[in-house]
Amino acid sequence: MKFGATFAVLSSLLSTALAVSFIVPGAVWTDTSGAKILAHGGHVIQVGSTFYWLGYGAAAGVIPNIYQSTDLMNWSHIGFATNQVSGMYRPKFVSSGGKWYIWGQVNREIVTLVAPGSTPASTAYTLTGSPALLPPDARSFSDMGVFVDDNGASYFLSSADSNNLQINNINAGTPITIGTRVADIGASIEAPGMLKANSTYFLVVSQKTGWSANPDKVYWAPAISGPWSGGTDIAPESTNTYNSQNSAELKITGSSATTYVFLGDIWDSTGSDASNYEWLPITVSKANQTLTLQDHAMWTVNLGTGVVVSSNFVNTTFNAADGIIGGSAVINKRAVHNITPSSNVTFTNVLGNALEKQWVAFEYTVNNRTAGEAHISVNGEPPIMLSALNSRAGHRSTVPVALALKEGPNTITFGVEAIDGGDFAAHLERIQVFDDY
Ligand SMILES: *[C@@H]1O[C@H](CO)[C@@H](O)[C@H](O)[C@H]1NC(C)=O
Ligand SMILES: *[C@@H]1O[C@H](CO)[C@@H](O)[C@H](O)[C@H]1NC(C)=O
Ligand SMILES: *[C@@H]1O[C@H](CO)[C@@H](O)[C@H](O)[C@H]1NC(C)=O
Ligand SMILES: *[C@@H]1O[C@H](CO)[C@@H](O)[C@H](O)[C@H]1NC(C)=O
Ligand SMILES: *[C@@H]1O[C@H](CO)[C@@H](O)[C@H](O)[C@H]1NC(C)=O
Ligand SMILES: *[C@@H]1O[C@H](CO)[C@@H](O)[C@H](O)[C@H]1NC(C)=O
Repeated sequence: MKFGATFAVLSSLLSTALAVSFIVPGAVWTDTSGAKILAHGGHVIQVGSTFYWLGYGAAAGVIPNIYQSTDLMNWSHIGFATNQVSGMYRPKFVSSGGKWYIWGQVNREIVTLVAPGSTPASTAYTLTGSPALLPPDARSFSDMGVFVDDNGASYFLSSADSNNLQINNINAGTPITIGTRVADIGASIEAPGMLKANSTYFLVVSQKTGWSANPDKVYWAPAISGPWSGGTDIAPESTNTYNSQNSAELKITGSSATTYVFLGDIWDSTGSDASNYEWLPITVSKANQTLTLQDHAMWTVNLGTGVVVSSNFVNTTFNAADGIIGGSAVINKRAVHNITPSSNVTFTNVLGNALEKQWVAFEYTVNNRTAGEAHISVNGEPPIMLSALNSRAGHRSTVPVALALKEGPNTITFGVEAIDGGDFAAHLERIQVFDDY
């Protein structure tokens, strides 16, 4: 009896250990084994109540990598899809005739993989068909997306090398092939994804700036063949799409709302596995023919109702002025100004639960993003740059990071480092501690 009770407690601790409770754009996301999720340039599909996330692992050789989840937060790793290709960028699932295919760009052509069984979750995809250029005039291309219409018709979206965003039919057949071109949008844009809301087609793309983020754009049309118009910003221009690039759009149909989700990559300077993800719900304006990202630092979606949930999860708030001020930083009402490399703010009594990581959100601004960075030290450990824990650091004013706190009171010190001795200072409003990870 005693042994059984102990075991029950232990296994409940283990099973909650890696349960993620929020989608936190920019944070380092881990799978259920605790490893960083490597699914860049990918997309998410839903089959029944299961979501499959396909993207590429860069260090592995740019190989398609698959995860699955039933809640969009807790992702278990299925594994790399194949050992038969490498250098396959922006892989996407396509299903046809009861089979699952992965399409991706290799050497600027489409390469096709097929799963052995009837599920997309496989590590034994094999090469099929021949590498192909785009009909009708054999353009090569870089980025690609896939869109499935309400009637099941599938389309291939590509950024052709001739600076044309091109849309082609996907032909059913064994294997699938690229069919006739249905639209040719002559524009220098890439990273295409698409959604359809109230019978309007919306195309989300980025501009061409390599691994640096730019303001992603939205085009719309009454039919997939066009006419396509638009080119409006999906987010305030100065944010460069909250520092991210579009990869795909996901539709969640609930009982009381349909939620569209922007799935973006926050690339590092070389597109390596250090890159993170920016997933945000999209507001659709049919009247204005625009899409706008909802800027949440932490959010989730109720998959039953389809409703986005984004507020009031905070368990404890510490205003910066309630911390212990080290050095020459200055209290201003509830905030602390002028936190320089020789000053800091220390919060004691940050209660941890030790069962799992916890989100701690730092709310701060900096005087010059390129002149330095904020860091934190937990329980006297060496400082960690906030940018290593969340790519929003320095870009957005609320930066949630996942911390492994110890049970009971913890001490967190917020400080900064200047690059090349530059004039750098941060202004800290508060930190907020969440009970959940
Ligand atoms: C995470 O999802 C997997 C299935 O994909 C499930 O087996 C596991 O129990 C889930 N873990 C948590 C902590 O929810
Ligand atoms: C539509 O445009 C009008 C006028 O610019 C603006 O006031 C309104 O907020 C927009 N609606 C949406 C949902 O974007
Ligand atoms: C779509 O149309 C329905 C019915 O007219 C309306 O209630 C809904 O708000 C529209 N959705 C969008 C995203 O415009
Ligand atoms: C923390 O907040 C969440 C969401 O509001 C709540 O469910 C949970 O019970 C809170 N935990 C504590 C320890 O107050
Ligand atoms: C905080 O700043 C003070 C004053 O510069 C310094 O003595 C102390 O070591 C700093 N604490 C931490 C944890 O960095
Ligand atoms: C910001 O910092 C960079 C790097 O130190 C410097 O080159 C630049 O002039 C600074 N910008 C402003 C507005 O001070």
